[in-house]
Amino acid sequence: MDTKSAGIKRNMTAIILAAGKGTRMKSALPKVLHPVAGRPMISRVIQSCQKAEVKDIRVVIGHGSGLVRTVLEKEPVFFYEQKEQLGTADAVKAAQVDTIEDDVLILNGDHPLIEAEDLIHFIKVFREEKLDIALITTNLKKPAEFGRIVRNGGELYSIVEAKDASAETLKITEVNTGIYIIKAKVLQELLPEIKNNNLKKEFYFTDIVSLAISERKKVRTISGNARVASGVNSQIELAKATKLLFKIKAQKLMEEGVLIIDPKATYIEETVQIGSGSVIYPGVYLKGKTQLGNFCLVEPHCFIQSCQIGDSVQIKAGSYLESSVIHSKCSLGPYARLRPESELLEEVQLGNFVEVKKSKIGKKTKAAHLAYIGDAEVGEECNIGCGTIFVNYLPNKSKHKTKVGDHTFIGSDVQLIAPLEVGHHATIGAGSVITKNVPDGSLAVTRAHQMIKENYQPKK
Ligand code: UD1
Ligand code: CA
Repeated sequence: MDTKSAGIKRNMTAIILAAGKGTRMKSALPKVLHPVAGRPMISRVIQSCQKAEVKDIRVVIGHGSGLVRTVLEKEPVFFYEQKEQLGTADAVKAAQVDTIEDDVLILNGDHPLIEAEDLIHFIKVFREEKLDIALITTNLKKPAEFGRIVRNGGELYSIVEAKDASAETLKITEVNTGIYIIKAKVLQELLPEIKNNNLKKEFYFTDIVSLAISERKKVRTISGNARVASGVNSQIELAKATKLLFKIKAQKLMEEGVLIIDPKATYIEETVQIGSGSVIYPGVYLKGKTQLGNFCLVEPHCFIQSCQIGDSVQIKAGSYLESSVIHSKCSLGPYARLRPESELLEEVQLGNFVEVKKSKIGKKTKAAHLAYIGDAEVGEECNIGCGTIFVNYLPNKSKHKTKVGDHTFIGSDVQLIAPLEVGHHATIGAGSVITKNVPDGSLAVTRAHQMIKENYQPKK
């Protein structure tokens, strides 16, 4: 048996339409680059295609194409330019359909909530039923601007765009989701037949349905859910899509044993991982490739981006952490700030208004209040006093490093002028400005002697 005609091993090419301006977004950013829960909406569509094992992914770009290419540079897709936005059929044409074999999946770049499971299901039905065209539809209470599915005695007849529809047609609640699967041969045959005789003078890809029916092709609708249909055409719809993704993510995490106090007020991107037993307070935003271990506590209004965090870490309210590694049992904040490339080893404690940048801090070291630690390597079990500054930035704009050994005590209000090395078991007196290296086990103090004038009367 010919495996191809049996529907096995047929190749699937995806065409993602993304050349439109997105006028209703009222924004200079190309629509498909608008982020849904932190990621450009088209990236989600691409990822779903990839997960559904579609190898050849073609993205049709036009408006802001330079920027779209740049942002999607690392995605495994091929770009095709649609010079002028003459409608969705013209956009499909731009993807050079003559070079496609087997089957084609056509999607809009502005339907970010589509999942691989949805696509896998549609492809399965399309193949099992040996269709020429499958059209994904859904029923919406408020079908608004979606294309309406017109049936004749229950049989699919055509798609009518809302703008071209009569009052009667507008009452139809079954709508076109803009997702189609079509045999490449059928696409190649019918695409040139699509005309632009409609109100907008655009070439509507939707016209392929009535054309195919008149050519006696096997066309059928497959029903998708409201999520699949949820297109983003405005900032309001964008926010709704984001909210839904946050809700789904929170539910998933709760099913895995994460305690989320108020899921509606918690913003966790899909890429984030959290271990069970961790508690997330309201107002927390977790971004990118952030990973949290088990039994962590993240108090209200923390912002954490791309951090790797161990077990039993306490992050108190209002902390802002970026691209850093935090080992188990550390405690940070309230109002701690970790700037990129910082690493806190086990049981480090950073208190309120402590900022750490590009520094590695050893086990059990404490900086309890108001300090700046930049470009440093600090040993274990050190104490960094209140108001201490690692002075790493010199007037000539060069940056230098500071090294502090283990078990060193730095008193309050010390300034360590880099480049500098402070040894192990050293002590630095409060208020000192340290410019020379401090050997192991020594005390360094730089302080003017205190003067006392008794019975002092200020001059009049
Ligand atoms: C389209 C469908 C409509 C369906 C809806 C689902 C048509 C004519 N209408 O309407 O039936 O209910 O999607 O969301 O297809 N694009 C291009 N080049 C163009 C025009 C559009 O690449 O010349 C891209 C857009 O960037 C967008 C997608 O095609 O990603 C859909 O275009 P849009 O204008 O948003 O179509 P809708 O009016 O939403
Ligand atoms: Ca749309």
